[in-house]
Amino acid sequence: MILDHDVVVLGAGLAGMRAALEAARGGANVAVLSKVHPVRSHSGAAQGGINAAIGAGDSWEIHAFDTIKGSDYLADQDAVEIMTSEAPQDIIELEHMGVIFYRDDEGRLGTRAFGGASKARTYFVGDITGQALLYTLYDQILKADVKVYEEWFATALYAPDGTCRGVVAIDMLSGELNLVRAKAVIVATGGMGRVYEPSTNALICTGDGIALAYRIGAPLMDMEMVQYHPTTLKGSGFLMTEAARGEGAFLLNKDGERFMQRYAPKMMELASRDVVSRAETVEIAEGRGIDGNVLLDLRHLGADLIMSKLPQIHEIALDFLGIDMITDPVPVRPGMHYIMGGVKTDVNGASPIPGLYSAGECACVSVHGGNRLGANSLLDTLVFGRRSGKAATEFVKTVTSPASGEDFLAGEQRRIAALMTRPYTGETHARLRLELGTLMDEKVGVYRDEAGLNEALAGVQALKRRYASVAVGDKSRIYNQALTFVLELGFMLDCAEATIYGAITRKESRGAQSRTDYPQRNDAEWLKHVVIRYGDGGPPKIDYQPVTITKWPPQERTY
Ligand code: FUM
Repeated sequence: MILDHDVVVLGAGLAGMRAALEAARGGANVAVLSKVHPVRSHSGAAQGGINAAIGAGDSWEIHAFDTIKGSDYLADQDAVEIMTSEAPQDIIELEHMGVIFYRDDEGRLGTRAFGGASKARTYFVGDITGQALLYTLYDQILKADVKVYEEWFATALYAPDGTCRGVVAIDMLSGELNLVRAKAVIVATGGMGRVYEPSTNALICTGDGIALAYRIGAPLMDMEMVQYHPTTLKGSGFLMTEAARGEGAFLLNKDGERFMQRYAPKMMELASRDVVSRAETVEIAEGRGIDGNVLLDLRHLGADLIMSKLPQIHEIALDFLGIDMITDPVPVRPGMHYIMGGVKTDVNGASPIPGLYSAGECACVSVHGGNRLGANSLLDTLVFGRRSGKAATEFVKTVTSPASGEDFLAGEQRRIAALMTRPYTGETHARLRLELGTLMDEKVGVYRDEAGLNEALAGVQALKRRYASVAVGDKSRIYNQALTFVLELGFMLDCAEATIYGAITRKESRGAQSRTDYPQRNDAEWLKHVVIRYGDGGPPKIDYQPVTITKWPPQERTY
């Protein structure tokens, strides 16, 4: 089947739905296409809150400086200025749409402190902020008559003549492959967390949109910048929100010491995530951890605060470890959480490929640089989702509807049919996926060096060769997850390779890239973005892009 819309948004998380809403408001015929139902998108896992400088004594300039310092000066400052200055209006609009943010005893919107922030400016709904926003935006896109293709799995972007003109996707319910043509496509598919094991990310976070854009020639930027969150639950890697520390929880080593006093004496547990994750890694490596973890201690916060403001993490720790955080500390370790890099865009979400836009975690505007501040990701999704929806709507007025596409769709149908009939050789997607995740966590994690990165690269290249003989076990058409798992693994391998190339290329330590062989930040040579283009069979092509500095020249970064 071939379908037509003005704007197709790939992904139905916060960035995607905010983009769709703005495009619909602009009069475009909009569709959202998502491999899961919109309210099952990973944005729903965001716990702690969303940042905006609304309160007395705060300003967007202070928020901007905190963000830039947090980024280790790699963020583009023009983009950060836009994000932080437009934040208040976006939060207030969400409130007007119906998000019931926490209010203080006087009835004012209440905030909590978050890491790397010099003011408490995180607005929240308990520890389910992402979920609250997601349901509200879903209501809004339904009201705006946005067409939703839910449980449609994208296999390729349609890009004739170097312009992006649609998406080929499997309707999971029927197994049919369709071409959804469009004058503009907004890729908002979230991150690639599951390239690492464990990760705080949902199992669906497999870098689909990043790889799809990369394969049609879109440049990826700052892919080496992978954030490890300091408090992920022992074993499963579930997120234990930074809001716990924002509300006053301590991090302890095996001696009961609040060890952050030796690493970040001013901000302690609320230093930037890269700083806290490195501190924990050192504590564990030097024998002051407990079974590969440190302890998150909330006991002194009391049952009332925990049950009113942090009920979800209380339940998760109880369900998965049998630990009641009201009476016992919780073992946590740094775990892969977020990517600062992604599809390179301008401040309106436009990639260098005409008709291709991107927003949210899969995009790199770049507002997070080397390290994202907690609660700036929800903000990024809303501000740049809105801006990309607006820009795409303007763009579609300047182009005609795409014609044809039948041949492209037929080619995709043949490719998937060949995959379905590939004989079983003993290789399974599940084994390869686990090997990939473990390799990335071990060699491309909190600390990296040349030797480990080269091992990771050789490992991923070997996995790519083995991937070529992975068969699809289930030969049926309806809800064939065996097929989509195999396709996802292909996306993950492309993302992993780009990440490793970025990490090998950047010969310094900055933000989340901690190279033990290049331990210092080196502004003279590396105050620049690493840009990677698809090699199409050969190695990726590496390029650089200057960092935009407006008001805040790089300084020493201490917390
Ligand atoms: O810790 C958290 O609640 C995570 C928030 C974020 O990544 O922005």
